[in-house]
Amino acid sequence: MIFEEIEELLNNATSKAGYDEKLSVTFSNMPKMCDFQCNDCFSLAKKYGKNPFEIAEDIVSKIENTQDFVFEVARPAFINIKLTDKKLSDIGNDYLKDPRGGLAMHTTQQKVLLDYGGANVAKSLHVGHLRPAIIGESLKRLYRLLGDQVISDVHLGDWGLQMGLTELELFEEGKLDYYFGKSKTPYHITIEDLNYAYPRASIRKNQEEDFRKKAETWTYKIQNKEEPYYSIFKELRELSVSEIKKNYASLGAEFDLWYGESDASDYIPEVLKIIKDKGLARESEGALVVDVAREGENIPLPKKEGEVQRYSNPMPPCIIEKSNGAALYATTDIATIYMRNKMFNNLGRIEYVTDARQHLHFTQVFRVSKLAEISPEEQQLLHIGHGTMNGRDGKPFKTRSGETIKLEDIIEMLVEKAGEKLKSNGLEFDRDLALKIGVAAMKFGDLINNVDKDYVFDLDKFMAFEGKTGPYLQYTAVRINSILNKVKDLSQGEFIVDNDEEREIIRCILKLNSSYEICYKNKTLSPLCLATYNLASAFSSFYNNYNVINEQDKKKQASYVSLLNLVKNKLAQALNVLAIEVPEKM
Ligand code: ARG
Repeated sequence: MIFEEIEELLNNATSKAGYDEKLSVTFSNMPKMCDFQCNDCFSLAKKYGKNPFEIAEDIVSKIENTQDFVFEVARPAFINIKLTDKKLSDIGNDYLKDPRGGLAMHTTQQKVLLDYGGANVAKSLHVGHLRPAIIGESLKRLYRLLGDQVISDVHLGDWGLQMGLTELELFEEGKLDYYFGKSKTPYHITIEDLNYAYPRASIRKNQEEDFRKKAETWTYKIQNKEEPYYSIFKELRELSVSEIKKNYASLGAEFDLWYGESDASDYIPEVLKIIKDKGLARESEGALVVDVAREGENIPLPKKEGEVQRYSNPMPPCIIEKSNGAALYATTDIATIYMRNKMFNNLGRIEYVTDARQHLHFTQVFRVSKLAEISPEEQQLLHIGHGTMNGRDGKPFKTRSGETIKLEDIIEMLVEKAGEKLKSNGLEFDRDLALKIGVAAMKFGDLINNVDKDYVFDLDKFMAFEGKTGPYLQYTAVRINSILNKVKDLSQGEFIVDNDEEREIIRCILKLNSSYEICYKNKTLSPLCLATYNLASAFSSFYNNYNVINEQDKKKQASYVSLLNLVKNKLAQALNVLAIEVPEKM
């Protein structure tokens, strides 16, 4: 909104000066000199064959009188714009009254299906599930804040070999006897049974050929809904889901839908028929494939005798059906798009947050869905691929013995580390509090990086109470709350900008507000993290220089209280998107 205000003044003057171009402004590159700048006089000069500095001066001289902004020309030909104290104060008072704190809502809003999480039934959630949960949850909240209607779906991986493996293992342990009429009393399968069965079966699969083959047959029976295999599957799935929900809850991730691959599988025959009827499929080595390559892809590279053919820009065909009838990851995802469009009309976007290494898979799935018109033309399908979380050695984070780390164990590490911090700050250990701080540390440590970048899991750095960390933001919010509690009986009064620290706070709020849109466009939370940190740090400077509680000038004090409330609201709004909770104390 502030941009529009400035641009309107500027463009009225531009047309008075005889140009019909529209100029635009950006935040200033030199915040010490001005708040906003316009760089467009250079291109105007080129177009009209005039001197850029003179054009800038001409435009500025024609700007209407305003008490809100100061326009100045700077060499070579920038127009610098400063906000007056009156304007900064007005912004503060207006944003305080507005429940959104000046954050605009999109004028066109979309219905979005956001697929993130990707937990697999029977397998434990592991470190690889951390980033999609953190990023997906925040994107969901961001989209909603800006007006989109978002449906989140965890899209359980529940239709693969792991189901057959787990059932077979449980069967061999005698835990499924009841289902097969070998025992009269049902055995109550527990989560511990599951946690034991899958890892063991997965080792056995690699060592015992026989076991693997049998597990494949079991999987096939489950997928054909044969009894009792299918009923057992449903029971295991339910058990597993309750465990998965607990883990996601510790991370603050909530899903509207708990559908899985198995739900989409009902649509596979229909989807295959559509693809075949459209003549998109061809046979290749016993499988059915769809060619999805476009111009410029699959360009054969020169090859020597006896070498395999290689391609630049490879885009292999998408395999949609195999001769053994097993469900394929790609086909299941295509069927899921089909199902989602049947369930919800007018889905503007379907977005997926997964590891960047699944990019080829999604490209193929999206192309088949578009070719087969399973996804309507105007629907946007998007894969948001994230980088990996690495250990200090720069390789994907693993245990010392090289195993994948369970999500539960990471959560415990966070709690422990946060607990140590609390103790060193003289507070008693409290699990809930430690969890809130630990999770905030993890989330901010993740989200401050661009989504597609890898980063190093450095708990000491993430957990610091100072600097660009989650706990620092929590600490700032806690501090504001505690001051506001102490001055409870004081009413807030008109906010009147009075010092540089306050000016900086309002500027930070303007930047914070505009960071939401940048995040929305670029599918990342990093700009929001930085802007939130900058606001917190601007507040700290204010706090270090002014004593709100002991301020004798009552008018001033009332203005401080207003400012505190505004900062509190803006921090809360941002932390809510980052899914970081503010503790009672710290
Ligand atoms: N379950 C998958 C995994 O663990 C992720 C699923 C992502 N979503 C999707 N629609 N394929 O890798």
